[in-house]
Amino acid sequence: MRAIVFTTNTGHTIEYVRILSEKTGLSAYSLESSLKELPSRTEIIYCGWLFANTIKGYKKAAKHFNIKAVCAVGLCDTGTSIDEVRKSNSISENIPLFTMQGGINKVKLRGINKFMINMLMKSLSSKKDLTSDEKRMLELLNSDKNYVNEENTVEFMKWYNSHK
Ligand SMILES: Cc1cc2nc3c(=O)[nH]c(=O)nc-3n(C[C@H](O)[C@H](O)[C@H](O)COP(=O)(O)O)c2cc1C
Repeated sequence: MRAIVFTTNTGHTIEYVRILSEKTGLSAYSLESSLKELPSRTEIIYCGWLFANTIKGYKKAAKHFNIKAVCAVGLCDTGTSIDEVRKSNSISENIPLFTMQGGINKVKLRGINKFMINMLMKSLSSKKDLTSDEKRMLELLNSDKNYVNEENTVEFMKWYNSHK
């Protein structure tokens, strides 16, 4: 593996990238700069933030690079939603996928992203019988917290150390 390539919106993903870069010794590039600086088919680890189960930038990165593993940063708990995310992004079974909990930073959200989160919060808040998943989501959305933590990279690092 040669590099980590990432896409972030409010900064949680880049925080994970900094941790992973330090632990692996791999250089990190934003998706935009990687397209200029890395040769096509370079072996990379791709890290992107989750938007309605889509990993931002993944499709583009997969066209240009040889992706060896994917880290998806979302509001979901670390290690959950793997099957849904794999399916939504058509990530083949031979590519390891890790989810890591980022957080929510409503102050930094703009435009469509802000609008969608506000709509989701409104609709969950007005619903009578929330499922436990919906309750958890509403709590997380209200919390406006940053959950980035080195602990959340343990599974990824186990995989990396046995495949580098
Ligand atoms: C419009 C929108 C949709 C989102 N959809 C999901 C989702 O489907 N699953 C999830 O776990 N998190 C979802 N999130 C939460 C973000 O992935 C989370 O805030 C993440 O930490 C953002 O990373 P960043 O700070 O690197 O941009 C969504 C956030 C926004 C604004």
